[in-house]
Amino acid sequence: MDDEFLAIATPLLEHPVVKALAQYNHHKAKTRLEHVKEVAWLSFLWGKRLSLDCRAIVRGALLHDLFFYDWMREGPRLHGFRHHNIALANARRLTELSPKEIDIIKRHMWPLTIIPPRYAESLVVCMVDTFCSVRDYLKGKKDEKCVSNRR
Ligand SMILES: [Fe+2]
Ligand SMILES: [Fe+2]
Repeated sequence: MDDEFLAIATPLLEHPVVKALAQYNHHKAKTRLEHVKEVAWLSFLWGKRLSLDCRAIVRGALLHDLFFYDWMREGPRLHGFRHHNIALANARRLTELSPKEIDIIKRHMWPLTIIPPRYAESLVVCMVDTFCSVRDYLKGKKDEKCVSNRR
């Protein structure tokens, strides 16, 4: 991976609270840590291409799903509408956040949560997150189909 990406990401990735995301499945065959790393990396590449604030993108993306329950089986009702606030509260306990980083976490579920992203950086993370989530969902469905066809 790119040196700049690693320089921004490593302090957060070495934090035990962020490391704990590896204990949670996020999209069937992917842990939450794998998911946030993937979203951070792909968003970083878009951020570079569009000359955006890549530090905010990487940090916001790594923290956008900082919650600690298996949302497919437990956690608060209406998880999709609420977990951005849970992640933001957890992220604030972990590190000082810039306004862009706050917006990235808070708006990443747009348009499900009505208020749109305020910054281009937030929009990039939101779109990459949606792309990764849909792709993981479809891959999970395909894998399930393969397993049931083999039975
Ligand atoms: Fe999320
Ligand atoms: Fe996500």
